[in-house]
Amino acid sequence: MSECLIRPLVAADLPAVLAIEIRAHAFPWTPGILEDALRSGYYMVVMEQGGTIIGYGVVQVILDEGHLLNITIDPALHGKGMGRELLAHLIDYAQNTTATLFLEVRPSNKRAVALYQAVGFNEIGLRRNYYPAVGGGREDALLMAMAF
Ligand SMILES: CC(C)(COP(=O)(O)OP(=O)(O)OC[C@H]1O[C@@H](n2cnc3c(N)ncnc32)[C@H](O)[C@@H]1OP(=O)(O)O)[C@@H](O)C(=O)NCCC(=O)NCCS
Repeated sequence: MSECLIRPLVAADLPAVLAIEIRAHAFPWTPGILEDALRSGYYMVVMEQGGTIIGYGVVQVILDEGHLLNITIDPALHGKGMGRELLAHLIDYAQNTTATLFLEVRPSNKRAVALYQAVGFNEIGLRRNYYPAVGGGREDALLMAMAF
């Protein structure tokens, strides 16, 4: 398998990113959210393998706080270490530009929670009824942080 490349996300990448977003999330970001994020100057990267986009990540910086808003790998490629590699890149960026990196995650997203814990994020709180849930109702968000 060829090496992965991580590079800045540009507008021309949005259709490919959106296609993965829809496959990977029960409640995907809309095209408008992605376009707004790009316009807002968030740190956005795509991960490519052999010229194909296989994942992407978004970090918003507010003063000395980083917020990991999205990290997604194409579902066809989950469990192969790509998410860990992409997350390491985003942490490295946050470490160079912020004092703390925050994120929210659904407690039911066991794979993501395990990955965040494995790389050193700590649970710092719970936001009650933060997310819409599959089948109706709401789901809490686990708030996690990594201080540098
Ligand atoms: C979360 C996500 C980015 C992880 O990417 P990935 O490429 O599948 O993950 P990796 O293969 O790099 O695995 C990293 C870690 O995840 C955990 N993990 C991987 N597969 C797992 C599984 N089947 N069950 C539980 N934990 C698992 C492990 O801690 C693993 O570490 P290890 O390799 O030392 O065992 C990816 O699953 C994804 O895009 N999910 C959908 C979008 C999403 O939920 N994003 C996060 C929202 S907050």
